[in-house]
Parts: sequence; structure tokens; C-alpha cells
Amino acid sequence: MLTKWFECVDPENQQDAITEAANLLKEGQVVAFPTETVYGLGANALNPEAVARIYEAKGRPSRNPIIVHVASASAAQEIAANWPPAALSLAEAFWPGPLTLVLPRHSCIPDIVTGGGNTVGIRVPAHPVARALLTALDCPIAAPSANRSNHISPTRAEHVAADLAGRIPLILDGGPCKGGLESTVISLVTPIPLLLRLGLIEPEQIEQVIGPILISSTNISSSATLPSPGMMSRHYAPETTLLLTEDDQIETLLALLRQRGGNPTHLELPDDHETCAAHLYEILREADASGATHIVTSLPPAEGRWMAVRDRLLRAATPGQDL
Ligand code: TXA
Ligand code: MG
Repeated sequence: MLTKWFECVDPENQQDAITEAANLLKEGQVVAFPTETVYGLGANALNPEAVARIYEAKGRPSRNPIIVHVASASAAQEIAANWPPAALSLAEAFWPGPLTLVLPRHSCIPDIVTGGGNTVGIRVPAHPVARALLTALDCPIAAPSANRSNHISPTRAEHVAADLAGRIPLILDGGPCKGGLESTVISLVTPIPLLLRLGLIEPEQIEQVIGPILISSTNISSSATLPSPGMMSRHYAPETTLLLTEDDQIETLLALLRQRGGNPTHLELPDDHETCAAHLYEILREADASGATHIVTSLPPAEGRWMAVRDRLLRAATPGQDL
């Protein structure tokens, strides 16, 4: 399949690109588009055959639920079977933006979107291209990150092409994603809201709006110590082994790896947490392609604003392995 690539940095001046993308989605095809977090691979959420094409292109196990993107909180209410007060408050506080709410699903949402479960993850994205596409299509868009399954999420159109060129008909290039990490995911179907994935909206920010929440134990970065590798889901991993260590141990570790015939690369992460989040996946992709045998970096502090970056680094690492 030929993959078209449309520049679409300013959707106001790129109506043709948006129209073509919306037409493909109406025909049941998939389209890669930018959001403020990472690039998504979208399909009409109400069309099971279209959603099946997402799984096919990504090589993704079909039990994983997919986030449904809508244009507004009122559109979100139409695809949820109920809309608790917490949803209203969180939508008012953080939408459009990088927060996904897991709610009971409305019967209009097909099984293939929810992985057969009774809940649906919903998000109103802030990126102008995503918004223009939702407006042009006028129906919800199911979209996971636009990478091959188990690869690092794409934060540039080039990353999407590296993973999916030849497998999808169109990539909308909106430039680099500003956020750089996937949305925060919170379930509102549990007795106490449960944070399922850390992201750019921090747990404390959510608690300021709806009171206490629980953090799922799969968010291993909430613990200060390195967890056992078995607990980690390596969803965000580079192919090269990533080793995390303390700042003052870096040189020792690099020397040890070289002594053993390795060719490690030292990743120096940006000092500012927002810059670091925005560039983390790009930096990891570059290091992965550099031919190094190991990627070595230090973990940022266990502070609220660094938690999402720590989470992704911990997931990408394989502690204790291959030293
Ligand atoms: O920022 C993002 O969230 C990006 C952009 C494209 O919106 N999307 C994204 O999708 O990261 P994906 O499929 O790569 O990750 C979706 C996450 C998974 O961890 C999935 O298990 C969880 O959201 N999720 C989606 N629907 C869910 C549901 N109904 N119940 C529990 N978890 C759900
Ligand atoms: Mg993903």
C-alpha cells in the first residue's frame, strides 16, 4: 500500500488534507494524525471493520482496549452509559487535553474497541489537527498510538512512517507533539477512581478536582525502588537494553560495559520535565538506532512532575538484565 503524507501543521490552511483524511475514515480506512500527546492511528469508532484495520496495521493483540476520541464533553456523554459527577468535573478541568476517562460503555461502541469489556476510554484531544478531523468526520475516532505493537510511541510523523509506512494509506504531519507522552488514564467505574496510567496530568492535579484517587500497582514508578522485571509491562521499550542508574554511578557503569566489549551510549536527559517529556521518545528512538549495545541513563527524581517520565523510563528498562 502506498502511504500518502500530508503536511498539516495549520489545519485552517490545510482543509484538503483534513477532507481527504475524513473521507478515508468514512470509507472505513485508518489514518495517522497528531495529538498533543503522541500520534494516533485513527478509525471510525462505530465501524468494527475499520477498527479491525488498526489492529492489523499495528500488529496489536485484539484484547487491548482502544481510546475513543471525541470533539467535546457532550459527544463523550453519548458514548458512555453513564456520566458520573467526577466525569463532569474532570472534563471541565482538563478537556480538551491529555486525560482519558474510563467509563461504562454505551451500546453504540463495538466490542472490538473495548476489547470485549464493559468500559470505554474516552478523550477529547486538544491538538488542532485532531480537532479539525473530529469536526469534519462528525463521529468518534478510535485511536491507539500510531506505532507497531510494543514499539515506542511516535511523537513525529517520521516516527509513524518508520513503523507504519506501506501499512496505512495516510499520515497527517502536524509537526512534533508538544506533550510527548501518552495521556493520563483514570477509571471512574471503580468505587474509588483508579489511575491506570501516569501521564502529563499528575495524580495531585486530579485529586484537587475530585478528591482522593488510587494509583494502580502497574504504575510501578509510584514506588521509589526498582520493581522486579516481571511487574513491568514493556510497552514503551526500545530494542536496545536500557539501564537506569544513579547519576554518580553512570561513569562506572559505562566503563564496566566497555570493559566487557560493549559499546554503550549515555543518554543525557533534558533538565526540565516538560522538555524531557516532549523529547523522551525521540531521544530513545535515536539512541536505539545508534548501534549502541546499551543505553545508559539516570532516573529523574521521584517527584510528581517527573512521575510520568520515570514511569516510561522504568517500563522501557530491563533492570538486572544483560549487564
Ligand atoms: O495519549 C494517548 O492516550 C494516545 C493518543 C493517540 O490519544 N493514545 C494511546 O493509546 O496512547 P494506546 O492504545 O496506545 O493506549 C491506551 C491505554 C492502554 O493502556 C489501554 O489499556 C488503556 O489506555 N485503555 C483504553 N481503554 C480502556 C478501558 N476501557 N479500560 C481500561 N484501560 C483502557
Ligand atoms: Mg500505545
